[in-house]
Amino acid sequence: MSRRIIVSFLAGIIVAMFFLTSSFLLISSLEKINLVKEKLKTNNELLINYMEVDRINNTSLLVSVMDSIRVTLIDKNGDVLFDSSGKRGLENHLDRLEVQEAMESGQGSDIRISKTLNTQMVYYATRLSDGKILRSSTEAGSLNLGGGFVKYMLGTFAFVILVSYLISRKIADYLLEPIQEMTFATDRIANGEYTRRVRVRSDAELGKLGMNFNNMAERLETTFIENEEKQNRLEAILKSMNSGVFAYDNADKIIMINPFCKQLFGISDNVIGKGVYEIKELRELIFMLNDEEDILEVQIEEPIRKDIRIKSAEILGERGSLVGTVVVLEDITDLKKLEKMRSQFVANVSHELKTPLTSIKGFSETLKFVKDESTRNKFLDIINDESERLTRLINDILTLSSIEQVKSLKNEEIDISYESEKVYHLLNPKAEAKNITLSLTQKEPLFMLGDVDLYNQLLLNLVDNAIKYTRENGEVQIRIEREDTLIKVVVSDTGIGIPEKHLNRIFERFYRVDKARDRAMGGTGLGLAIVKHIVLSMGGTIEVSSEIGKGTQFVVYLPMYKESYDEE
Ligand SMILES: Nc1ncnc2c1ncn2[C@@H]1O[C@H](COP(=O)(O)OP(=O)(O)OP(=O)(O)O)[C@@H](O)[C@H]1O
Ligand SMILES: [Mg+2]
Repeated sequence: MSRRIIVSFLAGIIVAMFFLTSSFLLISSLEKINLVKEKLKTNNELLINYMEVDRINNTSLLVSVMDSIRVTLIDKNGDVLFDSSGKRGLENHLDRLEVQEAMESGQGSDIRISKTLNTQMVYYATRLSDGKILRSSTEAGSLNLGGGFVKYMLGTFAFVILVSYLISRKIADYLLEPIQEMTFATDRIANGEYTRRVRVRSDAELGKLGMNFNNMAERLETTFIENEEKQNRLEAILKSMNSGVFAYDNADKIIMINPFCKQLFGISDNVIGKGVYEIKELRELIFMLNDEEDILEVQIEEPIRKDIRIKSAEILGERGSLVGTVVVLEDITDLKKLEKMRSQFVANVSHELKTPLTSIKGFSETLKFVKDESTRNKFLDIINDESERLTRLINDILTLSSIEQVKSLKNEEIDISYESEKVYHLLNPKAEAKNITLSLTQKEPLFMLGDVDLYNQLLLNLVDNAIKYTRENGEVQIRIEREDTLIKVVVSDTGIGIPEKHLNRIFERFYRVDKARDRAMGGTGLGLAIVKHIVLSMGGTIEVSSEIGKGTQFVVYLPMYKESYDEE
């Protein structure tokens, strides 16, 4: 670019110089010819003067004329009367331009190659009063400007070219510098350096160009930042989403997949840009989606068994054309589990209610026909027991649902020591009846914020179980102590224990380790479910450890202050 500017500039200068020199030379030679003509004219006038005024003989006069000028006398008819070149028998000169002009207007001139002398000649003809024509001529000669002039000319040429070269370089630099700067800036911007700007020059055009460039860069930067923010927002949303999302374009290449989705299918490597059909899990899903129209619920087995609900939507481009597909996967495992639990609960409740009702109905119907007093009393006792069980069951269900409605939770000060002692005294008779030693250990008075009734229920259920599932002469211990801001309640017994495989299920509703045995003991299987709910509603934790035949230990931690379980 720079070379082209310099070359064009220099070419322009050289052409201009060529024309200038040529026209200078042309004008100079014209000027010289004019001078020669003037000299010939004067020569003619001088000779005519001599001939006409001083009456000097033509021939002798003309012979004496200087060598460098050739003089010719021509008569009216164009015949040469005399020629100073000494040549005789010259042809008729009437066709010569200068002669014709002189005949017409008295004066005439011409420049041409002489047929006689074969050189470039300047002619000047003047008409004499008697009609003859006197013509002087001399060689036009070359324009001799002298060796000095040529040197001077060459010097000037060299100087002008040098100066022009320097100027053209300056111009090229001036023009190219902003372009180079912009090229550099565009390069940087293309590489992500959006804050790059160029210097705005004072020059009108270049200044405008720089300003426009900067404006463009500014807008690019803003658009980029906006896009990046949008992208980040979208990414944050997609990352934090509890649903899986992936999208693929028309060429079936994956363009987006969120962490939840990858986790759902156990995909660990980067799959962006890969074909969606190359990934087994996604391929199966898409096949299923193609078959079904709307929403689809499926169960996946790998890596973890999950119930998912799938929905797909088309991604539309600018003019409403289809550019891809987005698939949303919702993890509905918990929902399904809850649904299952609910229906199971209803089934369990109905069953638990039906059993005592059936026996009440049966025994009361039979009662009519029983005459024997002791049998009647036995039947009546059974009816009484069963209605008690029914009441207990209904109470337990009510308790459970009331704990579930967290709103109704009270937040009063619980005197742990006092309440625990109450439970101890309430259940001690039952323990004594089985000759079980029930002990309560609490070193210091303890208080916490919460619902007193719930605390009592919790302890009552745990101690009741411990006594119930401990054989005669056993031992049940209640230990209450403080650990930082937590209250630790330990209920341990030397009872029958719980087999390991049942340990994580005993907190489920209606779950009993040995259905027949535990039911015979009067249990409904709701006690520990209630305990678990109470602990959770208070923001605490519960752990159980057990050894068959040796005993069971329940450890409950409850936060003392409201803040702790407010977060629950
Ligand atoms: N301390 C314990 N020792 C051994 N087994 C226990 C103990 N506590 C609970 N279990 C087992 O866990 C099961 C569930 O206990 P849960 O208190 O929920 O029901 P329940 O005692 O049978 O009936 P409810 O308490 O409603 O009258 C019991 O049926 C029993 O098999
Ligand atoms: Mg119980």
